[in-house]
Amino acid sequence: MNKVEIQKFFKQWHIYKSIIKNNYMCHDEIFSSFYNFFTNVEDEDLTVVEIGCGDAYYPSKIFPKVNIIKYIGIDMSKYALAEAKKNISNVNFSCEFICNDAMLELQNINEKYNIIVAGYMLQHLNDDQLTELLRNVYLKLKNRYGYVFWYDMFRNNNLELIEYRNIFHNEIYKNWNDLTMEERDITLDHTKNHDYIRSYEEVELYAKKAGFREVKKVYSSENGYYAAFILCK
Ligand SMILES: C[S@@+](CC[C@H](N)C(=O)[O-])C[C@H]1O[C@@H](n2cnc3c(N)ncnc32)[C@H](O)[C@@H]1O
Repeated sequence: MNKVEIQKFFKQWHIYKSIIKNNYMCHDEIFSSFYNFFTNVEDEDLTVVEIGCGDAYYPSKIFPKVNIIKYIGIDMSKYALAEAKKNISNVNFSCEFICNDAMLELQNINEKYNIIVAGYMLQHLNDDQLTELLRNVYLKLKNRYGYVFWYDMFRNNNLELIEYRNIFHNEIYKNWNDLTMEERDITLDHTKNHDYIRSYEEVELYAKKAGFREVKKVYSSENGYYAAFILCK
Protein backbone atom coordinates (compact mmCIF):
# COMPACT_ATOMS: atom_id res chain seq x y z
CA MET A 1 0.00 0.00 0.00
CA ASN A 2 1.39 3.36 -1.00
CA LYS A 3 -0.33 5.60 1.53
CA VAL A 4 0.77 8.90 0.00
CA GLU A 5 -0.41 7.98 -3.50
CA ILE A 6 -3.71 6.59 -2.26
CA GLN A 7 -4.33 9.76 -0.27
CA LYS A 8 -3.46 11.84 -3.32
CA PHE A 9 -6.01 10.01 -5.50
CA PHE A 10 -8.83 10.28 -2.96
CA LYS A 11 -8.08 13.97 -2.44
CA GLN A 12 -9.83 14.34 -5.79
CA TRP A 13 -13.02 12.96 -4.28
CA HIS A 14 -15.20 14.33 -7.13
CA ILE A 15 -13.87 11.56 -9.43
CA TYR A 16 -14.88 8.77 -7.11
CA LYS A 17 -18.15 10.56 -6.31
CA SER A 18 -19.02 10.49 -9.99
CA ILE A 19 -18.17 6.76 -10.17
CA ILE A 20 -20.57 6.12 -7.28
CA LYS A 21 -23.30 8.39 -8.68
CA ASN A 22 -23.22 6.61 -12.04
CA ASN A 23 -23.10 3.18 -10.40
CA TYR A 24 -20.06 2.27 -12.52
CA MET A 25 -18.84 -0.07 -9.76
CA CYS A 26 -22.24 -1.59 -8.91
CA HIS A 27 -22.70 0.03 -5.49
CA ASP A 28 -26.51 -0.19 -5.94
CA GLU A 29 -26.51 -3.96 -6.36
CA ILE A 30 -23.82 -4.50 -3.74
CA PHE A 31 -25.73 -2.60 -1.07
CA SER A 32 -29.00 -4.33 -2.07
CA SER A 33 -27.21 -7.58 -1.25
CA PHE A 34 -26.16 -6.09 2.11
CA TYR A 35 -29.77 -5.14 2.81
CA ASN A 36 -31.12 -8.56 1.79
CA PHE A 37 -28.66 -10.43 3.97
CA PHE A 38 -28.78 -8.30 7.09
CA THR A 39 -32.53 -7.70 7.23
CA ASN A 40 -32.76 -11.47 7.65
CA VAL A 41 -30.36 -11.63 10.61
CA GLU A 42 -33.12 -12.16 13.20
CA ASP A 43 -33.88 -9.25 15.53
CA GLU A 44 -30.37 -8.47 16.66
CA ASP A 45 -29.37 -4.81 17.09
CA LEU A 46 -26.29 -4.57 14.89
CA THR A 47 -23.09 -2.59 15.42
CA VAL A 48 -20.87 -1.75 12.45
CA VAL A 49 -17.33 -0.58 11.76
CA GLU A 50 -16.54 0.41 8.19
CA ILE A 51 -12.89 0.56 7.15
CA GLY A 52 -12.15 2.80 4.17
CA CYS A 53 -15.67 4.24 4.46
CA GLY A 54 -15.03 7.03 1.93
CA ASP A 55 -18.01 9.40 1.84
CA ALA A 56 -20.32 6.79 3.45
CA TYR A 57 -22.92 7.56 0.79
CA TYR A 58 -24.42 4.08 0.61
CA PRO A 59 -24.34 3.38 4.35
CA SER A 60 -26.26 6.63 4.81
CA LYS A 61 -29.00 5.31 2.47
CA ILE A 62 -29.13 1.63 3.44
CA PHE A 63 -28.17 1.38 7.11
CA PRO A 64 -31.24 3.28 8.40
CA LYS A 65 -33.36 0.50 6.85
CA VAL A 66 -31.45 -2.26 8.67
CA ASN A 67 -31.37 -2.85 12.40
CA ILE A 68 -28.17 -0.87 12.97
CA ILE A 69 -27.69 0.97 16.24
CA LYS A 70 -24.05 2.05 16.05
CA TYR A 71 -21.67 2.89 13.19
CA ILE A 72 -17.98 3.85 13.16
CA GLY A 73 -16.46 4.93 9.83
CA ILE A 74 -12.67 4.90 9.49
CA ASP A 75 -10.83 6.47 6.57
CA MET A 76 -7.42 8.00 6.11
CA SER A 77 -8.73 10.69 3.75
CA LYS A 78 -9.98 13.80 5.51
CA TYR A 79 -11.59 14.91 2.22
CA ALA A 80 -13.71 11.77 2.07
CA LEU A 81 -14.65 12.09 5.73
CA ALA A 82 -15.76 15.70 5.27
CA GLU A 83 -18.25 14.40 2.67
CA ALA A 84 -19.20 11.47 4.91
CA LYS A 85 -20.15 13.78 7.77
CA LYS A 86 -22.47 15.68 5.42
CA ASN A 87 -24.03 12.46 4.06
CA ILE A 88 -24.62 10.84 7.45
CA SER A 89 -26.07 13.82 9.28
CA ASN A 90 -29.58 12.72 9.98
CA VAL A 91 -29.68 9.04 10.78
CA ASN A 92 -31.34 6.92 13.44
CA PHE A 93 -28.16 5.32 14.82
CA SER A 94 -25.11 6.55 16.70
CA CYS A 95 -22.29 7.52 14.42
CA GLU A 96 -18.60 8.42 14.67
CA PHE A 97 -15.86 9.04 12.10
CA ILE A 98 -12.15 8.50 12.65
CA CYS A 99 -9.42 9.76 10.33
CA ASN A 100 -6.61 7.22 10.46
CA ASP A 101 -5.06 4.22 8.74
CA ALA A 102 -7.50 1.37 9.39
CA MET A 103 -4.60 -1.04 10.00
CA LEU A 104 -3.61 1.07 13.02
CA GLU A 105 -7.02 2.21 14.16
CA LEU A 106 -8.44 -1.31 14.47
CA GLN A 107 -5.94 -1.91 17.24
CA ASN A 108 -7.45 0.97 19.25
CA ILE A 109 -10.90 -0.57 19.15
CA ASN A 110 -11.66 -2.41 22.37
CA GLU A 111 -15.30 -3.38 21.89
CA LYS A 112 -16.46 -6.18 19.60
CA TYR A 113 -18.76 -5.50 16.66
CA ASN A 114 -21.26 -7.44 14.53
CA ILE A 115 -20.24 -6.27 11.08
CA ILE A 116 -17.03 -4.92 9.61
CA VAL A 117 -17.53 -3.46 6.15
CA ALA A 118 -14.57 -3.19 3.76
CA GLY A 119 -15.53 -1.96 0.31
CA TYR A 120 -13.07 -1.25 -2.50
CA MET A 121 -10.42 -0.89 0.17
CA LEU A 122 -8.80 -4.28 0.77
CA GLN A 123 -7.57 -4.19 -2.82
CA HIS A 124 -5.11 -1.50 -1.70
CA LEU A 125 -3.35 -3.93 0.63
CA ASN A 126 -0.56 -6.28 -0.31
CA ASP A 127 -0.79 -9.96 0.64
CA ASP A 128 0.89 -9.63 4.05
CA GLN A 129 -1.14 -6.57 4.96
CA LEU A 130 -4.37 -8.31 3.93
CA THR A 131 -3.54 -11.37 6.03
CA GLU A 132 -2.77 -9.22 9.06
CA LEU A 133 -5.80 -7.00 8.62
CA LEU A 134 -8.27 -9.87 8.24
CA ARG A 135 -6.93 -11.52 11.36
CA ASN A 136 -7.36 -8.25 13.32
CA VAL A 137 -10.83 -7.85 11.88
CA TYR A 138 -11.70 -11.40 12.95
CA LEU A 139 -10.64 -10.61 16.52
CA LYS A 140 -12.82 -7.48 16.63
CA LEU A 141 -15.99 -9.36 15.68
CA LYS A 142 -18.53 -10.79 18.08
CA ASN A 143 -18.68 -14.57 18.16
CA ARG A 144 -22.45 -14.53 17.68
CA TYR A 145 -23.52 -12.60 14.58
CA GLY A 146 -20.00 -11.61 13.56
CA TYR A 147 -19.58 -10.83 9.85
CA VAL A 148 -17.33 -9.11 7.36
CA PHE A 149 -18.96 -7.54 4.32
CA TRP A 150 -16.15 -7.46 1.74
CA TYR A 151 -16.78 -6.02 -1.71
CA ASP A 152 -14.11 -5.32 -4.26
CA MET A 153 -12.95 -5.63 -7.85
CA PHE A 154 -12.04 -9.22 -8.65
CA ARG A 155 -10.66 -11.42 -11.38
CA ASN A 156 -12.99 -14.28 -12.11
CA ASN A 157 -12.63 -17.20 -14.54
CA ASN A 158 -8.93 -17.44 -13.69
CA LEU A 159 -8.14 -14.39 -15.77
CA GLU A 160 -4.48 -13.42 -15.72
CA LEU A 161 -3.87 -9.96 -14.28
CA ILE A 162 -2.80 -8.60 -17.65
CA GLU A 163 -6.02 -9.82 -19.33
CA TYR A 164 -8.07 -8.38 -16.51
CA ARG A 165 -6.34 -5.00 -16.84
CA ASN A 166 -7.04 -4.89 -20.58
CA ILE A 167 -10.72 -5.61 -20.05
CA PHE A 168 -10.98 -3.01 -17.29
CA HIS A 169 -9.16 -0.48 -19.44
CA ASN A 170 -11.66 -0.99 -22.27
CA GLU A 171 -14.61 -0.81 -19.91
CA ILE A 172 -13.52 2.55 -18.50
CA TYR A 173 -12.93 4.14 -21.89
CA LYS A 174 -16.11 2.72 -23.42
CA ASN A 175 -18.62 3.18 -20.61
CA TRP A 176 -17.49 5.60 -17.93
CA ASN A 177 -18.67 8.55 -20.00
CA ASP A 178 -19.43 10.94 -17.18
CA LEU A 179 -15.70 11.14 -16.44
CA THR A 180 -13.47 13.33 -18.57
CA MET A 181 -10.67 11.56 -20.46
CA GLU A 182 -8.20 12.96 -17.96
CA GLU A 183 -10.21 11.61 -15.04
CA ARG A 184 -10.34 8.20 -16.72
CA ASP A 185 -6.56 8.28 -17.16
CA ILE A 186 -6.11 9.14 -13.48
CA THR A 187 -8.49 6.35 -12.39
CA LEU A 188 -6.80 3.79 -14.57
CA ASP A 189 -3.40 4.82 -13.39
CA HIS A 190 -4.56 4.53 -9.77
CA THR A 191 -5.96 1.00 -10.21
CA LYS A 192 -2.94 -0.10 -12.22
CA ASN A 193 -0.39 1.03 -9.68
CA HIS A 194 -2.15 0.70 -6.35
CA ASP A 195 -4.66 -2.12 -6.56
CA TYR A 196 -4.12 -5.82 -5.95
CA ILE A 197 -6.88 -7.51 -7.92
CA ARG A 198 -7.63 -10.90 -6.41
CA SER A 199 -9.60 -13.90 -7.56
CA TYR A 200 -12.74 -15.25 -5.90
CA GLU A 201 -10.74 -18.27 -4.75
CA GLU A 202 -8.32 -16.00 -2.91
CA VAL A 203 -11.18 -14.53 -0.86
CA GLU A 204 -11.93 -18.03 0.39
CA LEU A 205 -8.24 -18.69 1.15
CA TYR A 206 -7.65 -15.45 3.04
CA ALA A 207 -10.89 -15.84 4.98
CA LYS A 208 -10.06 -19.37 6.07
CA LYS A 209 -6.53 -18.34 7.03
CA ALA A 210 -7.95 -15.63 9.31
CA GLY A 211 -10.28 -18.14 10.98
CA PHE A 212 -13.65 -17.50 9.33
CA ARG A 213 -15.83 -20.61 9.18
CA GLU A 214 -17.84 -19.76 6.08
CA VAL A 215 -17.76 -17.47 3.04
CA LYS A 216 -20.90 -16.59 1.08
CA LYS A 217 -20.82 -14.81 -2.24
CA VAL A 218 -23.85 -12.53 -2.09
CA TYR A 219 -23.31 -10.58 -5.31
CA SER A 220 -21.32 -10.69 -8.50
CA SER A 221 -21.81 -8.45 -11.53
CA GLU A 222 -22.61 -9.98 -14.92
CA ASN A 223 -19.00 -9.73 -16.05
CA GLY A 224 -17.82 -10.86 -12.62
CA TYR A 225 -15.49 -7.90 -11.99
CA TYR A 226 -17.41 -6.60 -8.99
CA ALA A 227 -18.48 -8.90 -6.20
CA ALA A 228 -19.50 -8.92 -2.55
CA PHE A 229 -18.81 -11.61 0.02
CA ILE A 230 -19.92 -12.21 3.58
CA LEU A 231 -17.34 -13.84 5.83
CA CYS A 232 -18.99 -15.51 8.82
CA LYS A 233 -17.10 -15.89 12.12
C1 LIG B 1 -12.37 3.27 -3.39
S1 LIG B 1 -12.72 4.12 -1.91
C2 LIG B 1 -14.08 3.21 -1.30
C3 LIG B 1 -15.01 4.02 -0.46
C4 LIG B 1 -16.26 3.26 -0.02
N1 LIG B 1 -15.93 2.12 0.80
C5 LIG B 1 -17.06 2.83 -1.23
O1 LIG B 1 -17.28 1.66 -1.44
O2 LIG B 1 -17.51 3.70 -1.96
C6 LIG B 1 -11.41 3.58 -0.87
C7 LIG B 1 -11.35 4.37 0.44
O3 LIG B 1 -10.49 3.66 1.33
C8 LIG B 1 -9.64 4.60 1.97
N2 LIG B 1 -8.45 3.84 2.39
C9 LIG B 1 -7.58 3.13 1.63
N3 LIG B 1 -6.66 2.52 2.38
C10 LIG B 1 -6.95 2.83 3.67
C11 LIG B 1 -6.39 2.51 4.93
N4 LIG B 1 -5.32 1.74 5.03
N5 LIG B 1 -6.96 3.02 6.06
C12 LIG B 1 -8.05 3.83 5.98
N6 LIG B 1 -8.64 4.17 4.82
C13 LIG B 1 -8.11 3.68 3.68
C14 LIG B 1 -9.40 5.68 0.94
O4 LIG B 1 -9.03 6.90 1.55
C15 LIG B 1 -10.77 5.75 0.27
O5 LIG B 1 -11.62 6.69 0.89
